Amino acid sequence: MTDSQLPQCSDDDADTNSSNNITLTDVVHSRLSRRQVLSGTAGTAALAMLGGLMPQAASARNTDLDARLFEHRSPRLGFDPVAKNRDDAVALPPDYRYDVLYALGDPIAKSVPDYRNDGTDDAASFAHRAGDHHDGMHYFGLGKYGNYSPKSSDRGLLCLNHEAITPAYLHPTGATIVDGVRTVADEVLKEFYVHGVSVVEIAKERDRQRNKWSSAYSYFNAHDRRGTEWAYEQNSPFNRRIHTLTEMKLSGPAARTSLMVTKFSPDGSKTRGTVNNCANGITPWGTYLTCEENWAGYFRRVAATDNPNRTAKELASLARYGVAGTGRELWATVTPDTDDNLYGRWNAMKLGSSEDGSDDYRHAPNTYGWVVEIDPFKPHSAPKKRTALGRFGHEGACLGPVKAGEPLVWYMGDDSRNEYIYKYVSNEPWNPRDADGGLAAGDKYLDDGKLYVAQFLPDGGGQWLELTFGLNGITADNAAYAFADQADVLVNARLAADAAGATKMDRPEWGAVHPKRGEVYFTLTNTNATARPIARVDAANPRFYNDKRTTGADQKGNPNGHIIRFAEDAGYADALSFSWDIFLFGARSTADEATVNVSGLSDDNDFSSPDGLWFSRANPGLLWIETDDGAYTDVTNCMLLAAIPGQVGDGEVTTITNVDGSSTQTVTTYVGKHLGERNLRRFLVGPKECEITGITETPDGRTLFINIQHPGEDTTPNFATSAFGSHWPDGGAARPRSATIVITRDDGGAIGIE
Ligand code: FEO
Ligand code: CA
Ligand code: CA
Ligand code: CA
Repeated sequence: MTDSQLPQCSDDDADTNSSNNITLTDVVHSRLSRRQVLSGTAGTAALAMLGGLMPQAASARNTDLDARLFEHRSPRLGFDPVAKNRDDAVALPPDYRYDVLYALGDPIAKSVPDYRNDGTDDAASFAHRAGDHHDGMHYFGLGKYGNYSPKSSDRGLLCLNHEAITPAYLHPTGATIVDGVRTVADEVLKEFYVHGVSVVEIAKERDRQRNKWSSAYSYFNAHDRRGTEWAYEQNSPFNRRIHTLTEMKLSGPAARTSLMVTKFSPDGSKTRGTVNNCANGITPWGTYLTCEENWAGYFRRVAATDNPNRTAKELASLARYGVAGTGRELWATVTPDTDDNLYGRWNAMKLGSSEDGSDDYRHAPNTYGWVVEIDPFKPHSAPKKRTALGRFGHEGACLGPVKAGEPLVWYMGDDSRNEYIYKYVSNEPWNPRDADGGLAAGDKYLDDGKLYVAQFLPDGGGQWLELTFGLNGITADNAAYAFADQADVLVNARLAADAAGATKMDRPEWGAVHPKRGEVYFTLTNTNATARPIARVDAANPRFYNDKRTTGADQKGNPNGHIIRFAEDAGYADALSFSWDIFLFGARSTADEATVNVSGLSDDNDFSSPDGLWFSRANPGLLWIETDDGAYTDVTNCMLLAAIPGQVGDGEVTTITNVDGSSTQTVTTYVGKHLGERNLRRFLVGPKECEITGITETPDGRTLFINIQHPGEDTTPNFATSAFGSHWPDGGAARPRSATIVITRDDGGAIGIE
């Protein structure tokens, strides 16, 4: 029997956090008494007083920073809001246009044929084609001599992630699976290639014409996408695909340890490939960070067979990361395997007899779940997995403020329900002379630092808990997991964060740092009643409601998500404490304002399930919000919104009364000032069944790039009639394709603002 694999949702997060971390309600009394602000009156009025004090206290500490901050004048939004819709198209405000720049299957090497998009394209050719499910990305300006040129707005290297796949559209009639086994090795090979990262040279038309005749750039023979002002260069020597077969170095404290030993690398120094690359990050030295998110599901580990062969510690680790199942794409089932275990390397069961794991892939999951550094300007360099940043479901790695003489900081979300927000702080202070240091600079700043996890307190404060062996309960006598050393802590960062007492969040996704204020924003995309029942609402995750679909179907929990933000104490990114509030709550504009639509959203700016989040650097103060939504899709496709935020503490203390049947939970929280249509507007609505994700701009702010991920992924395709969930971007009877689009303004002005 042959069956087609249905299109898959890529967001296969699993709640694997069974820790008994204290809730905010538990810690409120100790926190309040420590501050000695209240005496036995933990009511709303008392919290309101604290809330009122909070921003003031923060600004008193921030004298130096605030003086500079308030000099800054925010930009103003300058476009008409786009209406919600369910069209199979990209909708933009008047006076804006988009062009498709780089879509699934596009060839990026000489002599690779155009994409047929019918499932018959040669599997090996995908080593030189655009991958699937475009996600996080960054534009690096490219100089005349192939150098990093931060100000170049006409020519650049676009680095982008290919998070996952929609197998139905990659093969003639979906993936061939017979009795749970992948029987067509070439289909699997194609899937190996379409995951990972693209580095692709792009240029404006006029720049391409000029360079075409230059002997230095004789490779210019641009791939022609008619009508596109921007195009990628099919033959550029910078073009590169990094995928699940690319050899990578393991770097930092967990490299070359017993936890990383595999048959492929008996000394634990390297691994093959990267997978489920979701959001991204950058460094101040011109390299790209790709982040391995929901990687665990790719491994095959039949728990009932494997568990008896594992130690208690291994079992605790495997359970906490959710490494148990048949493997989401069944890659390990291909037979016969190759000599170098191309397929069997995805089998994480203990199959060999060695003590150290050098004869199988039992430790292979330990080589995934990292932030990976890539130097796009050195096409032959091996990417490095930076283990000092911890192993979890990395959504992204958002660079904090970069200041000479101060440590570098990256903020990171762990995208699964009930997971945490982390930050990494380099031990070395930033030296601007390392600005073109490439991967060697990465060795200096990304292999040597401290990892922290966030605890949000109910009084509007918070603290960073250090994840270092011997501290915060992360010890050999920890009851849940007996930590051995710092490598063990980093490989099992989730368990270390449990031990330290981190705050479980409603599924952390992207972080973004305000380029002027240094405040940090994080999307908490959504959660459901099973993962976070009403009894577990807290100040930082304060809503539980029923967001009924227009069909009348219940959606309980926090299906619309929210965006939290925090200001580090004294404005220092390496501070150990912070103040927070909730910037924005996702909701239908028609929902009750006291309990659900707490941010007062209107028809012009209501949204659900924020995911991508990114501050323009060219236009400081302009924030972009992208949605990955399943809850509001009865009304609208996913979208991109533009916002001009205020600052932490600019709103008010609010009490939300959550009701579910006979249960009532009242929570006091801190809600940012309502933005109104003036400061929050819908800028774009994507085609059917897509996610809007990934965002970057040219340094002049006049070209915006975003990704349309997996249009049509929810509908089972009918290949006989070419009935698909979407036909975007090619239209007609075509299969849908994930793609990068370029957005420009007719008058050539800055995107989104006046
Ligand atoms: Fe890949 Fe968290 O979205
Ligand atoms: Ca997705
Ligand atoms: Ca995401
Ligand atoms: Ca998501």
